[in-house]
Amino acid sequence: MSQAERAGELSALDPSPRQTDELLAAAGGLVRALMTAHRDGDVLGHPRGDDLTRQLLTARPPASPTPVEDALATIGSVLATGADNAAPGELAYIPGSGLLTAAVADLIGGVANRYTGLSAFTPAAVALEQGVLSWLTELFGLPDTAQGLLLSGGSAANLTAVVAARDAHARGAVDRACLYVGQHAHASVRKAARIAGFTDEQVRVCTSADGLRLDPEAVRIAIKQDLADGLVPVAVVGAAGTTNTGSIDPLHELADVAREHGVWFHVDAAYGGFFQLTERGRQLLAGIERADSITLDPHKSLFLPFGTGALLVRDRAHLAASFAEEADYLRDAEEEPPALPDFSALGPELTREWRGLRLWLPLMLHGTDAFTAALDRALDLARWASEELVGDDHVEVVSAPELSILTFRVPGDDASQDRALARIHADGHVRLSSTVLDGRVVLRLAVLSHRTSEDTLSRAVSAIREAASAATATAGAAEGGREG
Ligand SMILES: Cc1ncc(COP(=O)(O)O)c(C=O)c1O
Repeated sequence: MSQAERAGELSALDPSPRQTDELLAAAGGLVRALMTAHRDGDVLGHPRGDDLTRQLLTARPPASPTPVEDALATIGSVLATGADNAAPGELAYIPGSGLLTAAVADLIGGVANRYTGLSAFTPAAVALEQGVLSWLTELFGLPDTAQGLLLSGGSAANLTAVVAARDAHARGAVDRACLYVGQHAHASVRKAARIAGFTDEQVRVCTSADGLRLDPEAVRIAIKQDLADGLVPVAVVGAAGTTNTGSIDPLHELADVAREHGVWFHVDAAYGGFFQLTERGRQLLAGIERADSITLDPHKSLFLPFGTGALLVRDRAHLAASFAEEADYLRDAEEEPPALPDFSALGPELTREWRGLRLWLPLMLHGTDAFTAALDRALDLARWASEELVGDDHVEVVSAPELSILTFRVPGDDASQDRALARIHADGHVRLSSTVLDGRVVLRLAVLSHRTSEDTLSRAVSAIREAASAATATAGAAEGGREG
């Protein structure tokens, strides 16, 4: 028994060293089981857990302690239900995987609970985060004036960028401000605009020349028209990997248009950004270095657990102009050590977790080469799947992967696509998703999880082939029926 325990000084909320060991060992057992399930398990096929859901909705915390094994058993039973989107077969939406090393960083960061909103209290902890952010601004070729900020996700990063752009170009004139986005811009960009005070009409949705990518000429025309009408163009928003097809908007041309008219150029690279770590990605993302701001989502293409987005801004002064606030009760912390940012003065949050640690630890323990290799593999696997499906007479590849997303159709109408999707999902190993392109439902396969292997993809391709051939037979029978 420690001195503190003997003296009875420990709060009931702080476990003793022995209890701490027991808690960590019990939680460690659950974590190990989860890692095995993530490696070998299926995405679908688990029960929905309706009874458990009902039970949990009515459950309330007890006044006295619950044994750890009972609490962990409840967590275990929750995790035995629903879709396991961290499994290797997750090929729907934008897959998220969740690195154990980042989760361990969260545990340490949470227990340490250092306050990193201001740099003066714990400069080295802020410096650790700033080092990772500088790695990011350098990776994207931004100048020394640049600053990164870790947020909760891509939506928060897009919102922070839109606010900074609005204040830089239309402070006090948001009623005349306009934003230029592509038809495939992520919904979070429109949401950000709405929160930032733009009406739906002030968000110009510009057409794409090829149906996939934002057409710079359409943006140029829209900006000129708005200027002629006395409106205030604020920002052009390009996508470095649209959610629908993973297509990359023409970044250099969009940067040219933005520069011609002196407006902000934001690149939403929430999905595609970290492909910058690969040789092929760098070529495809050329022009991103000209952005005024870039949204990244480490919880997508850096494989982190959900809850980490990043915004990189070319000139940190813009973030300070939008988000710095003085407060009397923060006067003790006014001495800012040189070269260290006050994160709370650069974004919407004051108190925040030590987010930098959940990037830093995985980057340290795995090294950046491991991330490059995983992203290269995602590019290879998506390309392989696309080639296989192009070679199948029953499948129409609608958009081949520019990065790691492809879309396709099976024979028949939109309802046939939905039926094919259900068939592909039947054995539960893989999950794909669908979207609408050019008014037609298409099926969509996105490779991003570091856990997705050759084996997963060949199972996905076989399931797609089988569903496409069934759809062909159904379409043929319907055709025959009509002729007969
Ligand atoms: C291109 C793009 N931007 C932004 C977002 C929003 O990111 P988050 O879900 O992290 O808020 C997504 C999410 O899928 C996305 O694909």
